[in-house]
Amino acid sequence: MSRLIVVSNRVNPPSSDGEESVGGLAMALAASLREYSGVWFGWSGKTVDTFTGELNIEEIGGVTAATIDLEEIDLEEYYNGYANKTLWPLFHYRNDLAAFDRAYDKGYMRVNRRFAETLAPLIRPDDLIWVHDYHLIPLARELRSLGVKNRIGFFLHIPWPAHQVMINLPRHRQLVEAMFDYDLVGFQTGEYQQAFEEYVISEAEGAVMRPGCLKGFGRILEVGAFPIGIDAADFARMVKSSRARRMRDLMTACTVFRHLIVGVDRLDYSKGLEERFLGFEQFLQRNPDLRREVLMLQIAPVSREAVEAYQEIRARLDSLSGRINGEFADVDWAPFRWVNRNYRRDELAGIYGAARVGLVTPLRDGMNLVAKEYVAAQNPDDPGVLILSRFAGAARQMRDALLVNPNSPEEVADALRRALAMEKPERIRRWGALFDNVQREDVVGWRDEFVGALSGKSVKMRPALVV
Ligand code: ADP
Ligand code: G6P
Repeated sequence: MSRLIVVSNRVNPPSSDGEESVGGLAMALAASLREYSGVWFGWSGKTVDTFTGELNIEEIGGVTAATIDLEEIDLEEYYNGYANKTLWPLFHYRNDLAAFDRAYDKGYMRVNRRFAETLAPLIRPDDLIWVHDYHLIPLARELRSLGVKNRIGFFLHIPWPAHQVMINLPRHRQLVEAMFDYDLVGFQTGEYQQAFEEYVISEAEGAVMRPGCLKGFGRILEVGAFPIGIDAADFARMVKSSRARRMRDLMTACTVFRHLIVGVDRLDYSKGLEERFLGFEQFLQRNPDLRREVLMLQIAPVSREAVEAYQEIRARLDSLSGRINGEFADVDWAPFRWVNRNYRRDELAGIYGAARVGLVTPLRDGMNLVAKEYVAAQNPDDPGVLILSRFAGAARQMRDALLVNPNSPEEVADALRRALAMEKPERIRRWGALFDNVQREDVVGWRDEFVGALSGKSVKMRPALVV
């Protein structure tokens, strides 16, 4: 069997159930690599004065991680800059937050070259190389220029924006042309794949030759939609763990006679937290009879703190959560809990399990794994209700959630009322369909489908697990 070399900016396999590892990409890759004899290559998260390209090799949780340190200026121009101030906001339709700066461009290209130069000597002739996410779009181009001939695939974890949004990016053609150095490019949904194809057709004399085969820039590229999932079997095991049970009991005890509504997200402006808070506020205003019957818990660990837009959204959310409690709290009761820390994965499973409502309302999201984790953690005999943004990639598969427009606090408030009033038979029916999908289209299936397509061997999805 060929070795699989996975490359991503962030490399953080959780070493045990207890370890938190925030971000969908890290969770999915750790789960996918565990069964492969492969290497996970990327940035160590550390900086040094001068780049050396020296590799740090570690075995973490059954995965071999090979990482490099970057310079402070790389962090500034590549990670905080081009990746998180230019591409992230633009790809999430926040052109108003996108910064365009040629220094960021240069830093991005420099770090991609550094990744390629360090990685190339490790590659054996029949290795498969799988590159992840918006930090590393030009990596295949850099590897090819060093003579690497292996099959190289790319998977984008975030949305691909509409053509008219994409062309706001200076030198967008250069970036997209570099994607044609991959053999296979994968997206989370058919909608993102289609948006990519439309760009190539309009901007690069492109054409869809047949489904999954795209011509552009005078070259040919395989493309496809590969919706990512969670590690369903591992999650099912964690839901039954004693820590998950203890946490579920604790949460149940502190919400006696009340229903828990839970949100779990990185503190990111794409997650729709402001609109969600306003939706909850409206719910409390419009339903005085239900006020004492709910507690909303929003867990949101801080993320990308060096970027101003993240500092600003955090300050706005701090103030909004204070306002909601100030307006509605009583001496013995408060409606809202705002928590900015990480939890162990088994503890999170317990928290989800205690919640009558999972509130997942990003304004845009490539997929959203929290929605799937919430479903996987429910008690089949008395499951909670998932409220899900129609603009999360997950909404394509999770049609039995209550789908809402996350921009509308009114819709969020209505959905909360509906979810809390939903009778058990309807909850069980909706949950059953959601759970079936979460199990069937899990991370193992995602990996096998992508790697199968990359290696030229198509792999059938596994049948659903019986839990
Ligand atoms: P994104 O990748 O944009 O952060 P996802 O919903 O796809 O969004 O993935 C988030 C992942 O991070 C999930 O696996 C979730 O369990 C994890 N996570 C989010 N918040 C926390 C937290 N407070 N503690 C531990 N893990 C978290
Ligand atoms: C999203 C991105 C990942 C990223 C993660 C956490 O899931 O798609 O590429 O790793 O967020 O963000 P961070 O900037 O902390 O790596």
